[in-house]
Amino acid sequence: MGENKRLRFPFDFKEITEEEKLEIKRLFNYPKIDLIRVGPKDYLMPRAYIEHAENIYNLPIRSSDVYVASFQRAGTTWTQELVWLLANDFDYETALSVPITHRYPFLEIYMLYTEWRKDCLANIDKVESIEKKERILKMLEVMCQPVTEKLAAMPSPRFIKTHLPMSFLPPNIVDTAKVIYIARDARDIAVSSYHHARLFRVLDFIGEFKDFWDIFRSDRFIQSPYFEHVKEAWNLRHHPNMLFLFYEELAKDLPAVVRRVADFLGKEVTEEQMTRLCDHLSFENFKKNKAVNYEDLKEFDIVSPKENFIRRGKAHGWHDYFDEEMTQQADQWIEDSLRDTDLRFPNV
Ligand code: A3P
Repeated sequence: MGENKRLRFPFDFKEITEEEKLEIKRLFNYPKIDLIRVGPKDYLMPRAYIEHAENIYNLPIRSSDVYVASFQRAGTTWTQELVWLLANDFDYETALSVPITHRYPFLEIYMLYTEWRKDCLANIDKVESIEKKERILKMLEVMCQPVTEKLAAMPSPRFIKTHLPMSFLPPNIVDTAKVIYIARDARDIAVSSYHHARLFRVLDFIGEFKDFWDIFRSDRFIQSPYFEHVKEAWNLRHHPNMLFLFYEELAKDLPAVVRRVADFLGKEVTEEQMTRLCDHLSFENFKKNKAVNYEDLKEFDIVSPKENFIRRGKAHGWHDYFDEEMTQQADQWIEDSLRDTDLRFPNV
């Protein structure tokens, strides 16, 4: 096979059921959510993915690329910043001044914003301030431009964020570039995703946590099924270009994780550098760091003022949300999902 031969995207697309459509209408306030199922594992994706799946699958990978991959809310941003600072010789000046969204193109972000962008552009003439208009257009570029185009023009090394499952990424990705995947306890992902779905107006979740838990545990939330997503990466964890991390490990012993990431990237870290890095990455500092906390989106009404992107930062905070019945459902779900694998989440 020639090196430049374009690969066919190997998975089928399938409509969701009428029942699922009604459930979305009932639980989400944003009127334009339009989802489809993809591939044998039935991943739930925005319909706009159909148009871009093959481009992403054929993205030219560079050996200097670094990918931070995860299911949403697993600690992606935390990992991105850790990786970026190690790989960029602790350049805090840039890290604190250039938003993480600019340092890390988010591979598939635009597919969530296809409809929202149209509405935004239709109303742009109502914005009186030229400066604000420019900021909106810049933000639209970051959120909505197909990232495959942007990446082609980017100098190396490129740092890229994705929430796509490994099977949707170019097949040569781990043989060519470095991938760091982060996973997290499914119950904490559920709680954090619930708040996230209330934060972002392209979802605007209006149900209770219990409603969210029901759709999450039955693989009816975007990007689901969660465990299949994690297992795909887990199965690649012994590949020398893949580093598999758990949120709980970062929460328990951040310096130990920094050392593992540094080894993976071939970097040295002095004690002094370690102290400063862990301080920079602490939840308290992260929460107020404008380059990573996504607070800038509040200006554009993309997010609700009632929630925060950097929210609670706790491993096993789910206990505060789950009643007895939900706890049992979770135990059963986790047991069933992990039965065919040696994947085990740290019990910290
Ligand atoms: P919570 O909602 O449980 O607080 P992602 O970046 O993948 O969207 O993950 C977001 C989750 O990581 C949120 O979880 C967020 O608060 C948490 N997080 C982000 N930075 C963190 C940090 N420095 N320390 C601990 N948790 C952090």
